[in-house]
Amino acid sequence: MRSIVFVVLFIGLLPAVSYGKEEARGGDLVDGVGVEALPHELRVLLAEEMRALQQGMVSIIPAYLSGEWDEVATIAGKMERSYILKQRLTKEQAKVLKRVLPRAFIQRDQQFHYLAGMLEHVAKNRKPELINFYFSEINAACVECHTAHATHRFPALKQKEVEAHSH
Ligand code: HEC
Repeated sequence: MRSIVFVVLFIGLLPAVSYGKEEARGGDLVDGVGVEALPHELRVLLAEEMRALQQGMVSIIPAYLSGEWDEVATIAGKMERSYILKQRLTKEQAKVLKRVLPRAFIQRDQQFHYLAGMLEHVAKNRKPELINFYFSEINAACVECHTAHATHRFPALKQKEVEAHSH
């Protein structure tokens, strides 16, 4: 079984957050606010994880365009199984994450890990056109989650979101 950033961490927590929709449960926060409300040390770990993901995405490009499918698979596999947060989290920290992060964040994280798993799979099967497809889907998933949960970090995405909503 593969460990993944948040998913493994949240497997036990999902039932608790799955039914509550947006209603407040003892200090739950709405989308976009949740991450900012995380304690400093958790945000440091999250940011580290994110930079590792970005490094993965950047490294895939030369591997892809030179036909190194195995290398693409290796990188995608690392991204899919990345679990820095889980490795280092104490039970107390896991509880904090559960309280602070919105359900939608966890779902987006799961979707991201699904796509990274697919990228690994199609790279292992040496299907360049599908590698390109899933690489692009992952890029979209990065932007999608940042637009919903990280505009404090990427303000340019906020403008885009506002524009989209005003039409
Ligand atoms: C499930 C949501 C989610 C997904 C998916 C996601 N991110 Fe992020 N990312 C965030 C959040 C939230 C922050 C801001 C963290 C903070 O402010 O503490 C962030 C911040 C970052 C940062 C800035 C880190 C820093 O040093 O401040 C980078 C780089 C980044 N993400 C890259 C990526 C890449 C590349 C992908 C896709 C491969 C990705 N992210 C997918 C939620 C996500």
